Amino acid sequence: MSLLAVENLAIRFGGVRAVDGVSFAVEPGQVYTIIGPNGAGKTTVFNLISRLFDSDNGTVTFDGRDITRERPHRIVRHGIARTFQNLELFDHATVLQNLLLGRHRHRTVKLLDEILFLPRVTRSEVAHREKAEEVIEFLELEAHRDSPVASLPYGVRKVVELGRALCAEPKLLLLDEPASGLNPEETENLAFWIDDMRSDLGLTILMVEHDLTLVNEVSEQVLVMNQGQALAEGSPAEVQKDPAVIAAYLGTDE
Ligand SMILES: Nc1ncnc2c1ncn2[C@@H]1O[C@H](COP(=O)(O)OP(=O)(O)O)[C@@H](O)[C@H]1O
Ligand SMILES: [Mg+2]
Repeated sequence: MSLLAVENLAIRFGGVRAVDGVSFAVEPGQVYTIIGPNGAGKTTVFNLISRLFDSDNGTVTFDGRDITRERPHRIVRHGIARTFQNLELFDHATVLQNLLLGRHRHRTVKLLDEILFLPRVTRSEVAHREKAEEVIEFLELEAHRDSPVASLPYGVRKVVELGRALCAEPKLLLLDEPASGLNPEETENLAFWIDDMRSDLGLTILMVEHDLTLVNEVSEQVLVMNQGQALAEGSPAEVQKDPAVIAAYLGTDE
């Protein structure tokens, strides 16, 4: 069974068919990548899966459950975490604090208990802290753990955002342009982390990415989108020699 199945998904904004009948499926353990020109609808697909928007049509099934109309705050509880194309971090909080915010879905202890600081709160706080420290070690963020995010270089902030998503212990990670703004060395590290997240953490990854070197290195399956529609699907090598894909990228007619 596919971990994520998107069927005939569609949304329009005014006259723009941002996503126009897109279907694809992501298998457990896969790194599945969506590529395509700017404005193709890639981020909107992510926004529909993570329920920032209501789709006009289509279904999204995750782990056997129909989440098409699921309440947004429950998406992360079902095991889907994401990063954003433009970073969404709390700039004035530290790296550790941002990661602890990623633990939100695991906060089961009631607010009153937190105020009274009962022993089990202490235990749960310790558990959240341990998970955040584990992620800090995994992503080699030790040197930055107590720094405010605003003081960090862009490349490190992107890693912090990845860390915050990992703190939710997702099954499926949505990465929107994880390599954009990274230098070649940072992109190479990202490729290693993607491999490790899959092999060591057992994650399935759905990503949007423009850097074809990274796409070729880490993903098995690629969906090419153009003007809200799926143009081609296959291995990275297959789609890159597809004439319709080449035409879309060059902006010429087929
Ligand atoms: N919230 C929104 N309101 C209106 N139009 C939007 C909104 N989000 C995206 N769009 C439009 O939908 C299309 C697809 O955008 P997007 O999914 O961001 O593309 P991509 O991520 O592939 O570059 C674009 O034409 C964009 O302007
Ligand atoms: Mg985008």
